[in-house]
Amino acid sequence: MIGESPSPELLSDLVLLASRTPSPHNTQPWSPQIIDGTIEVSIVPGRTLPAGDPTFRDVIMSLGAWIESLAIGAAEAGFATDVTVLPALSELDSLPISGPADVTRPVFRVALSPADHDATEGASNLHPFTAAEVMERRVYRGALVGEPEVFAHLDSLQLPPWLSLRSLDDRAMKQLSTLGIAFTASHATVANELLHWLRLDPRHPRYHRDGMTDAMLVMPRPLARIAAPFTRRARLRDPLVAVAGPVARLLEGLGRDAALPTGVTDERGAPTHHVLVANSRAAGIDDILSVTEAMDSRIGVTEPHALEAGRVLQRLWLHAHRQGLAISPHSELIDSPAAHGALRKRLGLSRSDVALSVFSAGVAQTDRVPRSPRLTDPMR
Ligand SMILES: Cc1cc2nc3c(=O)[nH]c(=O)nc-3n(C[C@H](O)[C@H](O)[C@H](O)COP(=O)(O)O)c2cc1C
Repeated sequence: MIGESPSPELLSDLVLLASRTPSPHNTQPWSPQIIDGTIEVSIVPGRTLPAGDPTFRDVIMSLGAWIESLAIGAAEAGFATDVTVLPALSELDSLPISGPADVTRPVFRVALSPADHDATEGASNLHPFTAAEVMERRVYRGALVGEPEVFAHLDSLQLPPWLSLRSLDDRAMKQLSTLGIAFTASHATVANELLHWLRLDPRHPRYHRDGMTDAMLVMPRPLARIAAPFTRRARLRDPLVAVAGPVARLLEGLGRDAALPTGVTDERGAPTHHVLVANSRAAGIDDILSVTEAMDSRIGVTEPHALEAGRVLQRLWLHAHRQGLAISPHSELIDSPAAHGALRKRLGLSRSDVALSVFSAGVAQTDRVPRSPRLTDPMR
């Protein structure tokens, strides 16, 4: 294999592997095309979250994770991965809010070249993970028992100097997550979008394709059966969202004013909580042009930086997986302005710090973590 260009079969195998990458609400927003021995990836507008992720932060992070998955498989096959970020990545505001990918406007291109042996030695540091781990990793939203040391040593993960992982205590996490959930429930567009991606009944036509199933959400079956029609019929859904709104707004109002507990130590066994923070100054985003780009991006860092952060996020989640731990992401802490503000204060973030991802980690208290569906799974 080494010394040759990648075969079309290898490229499609790698695309298949990368399809196991995590994405917000399991939307799988990527559309890869194999063109002249390279892979070009466009974004599928109908698989973005215009209400819940208006800045495209989570979409871009998951595309970064997609690159990382592909790079891990490529390294295993003896190839180095060269990524070219294309201008369309920084022009996402011009995307329609629904519909298929525009394959003439890819956001990045991946080329593979045979890895030279010395570089491969180094690369085994950079890509210490295996394709099998990419396939097996999964999120778990049920009970987690934390292992406080899990992210104590990150050297092998090669975080760029502008990214760091901060810890958040369990009591603050619970309080801020409630605030974040209240935000989702109090915004009809965000709540409707979430409901649209839920598949609570195996009879849902997309149950085995995309979105989040009752099993993934660790929902008791009877509850899932009662709730399922509310996710699919506007006649039922709209009044539910309308009723939930004011209640959630009340909770949000109360939560916004509540002080976070101070001087607390985590209970034994509590999951650990982590925040991936980018420092825009350390990322070199302090000349006028880059500052403008970062502000244009609305994420707080430029889109190429968010893409790089997504690669790191996938490494962090695989690192936990390798140690037998599962991840439970909590983007609601960043999406809700009130929770985000309190989070920033709690972590003592400065103006140039940008929180990009919040997630919990721990050992899943089950021996069957459900597998999420993918568009690339064999049709049932
Ligand atoms: C950038 C990003 C943000 C995410 N945010 C959340 C979240 O806020 N809450 C959640 O339950 N899952 C979140 N997820 C996890 C996805 O829902 C999950 O990856 C997807 O459903 C596929 O499941 P799997 O990771 O087990 O394969 C996020 C994933 C990514 C990549």
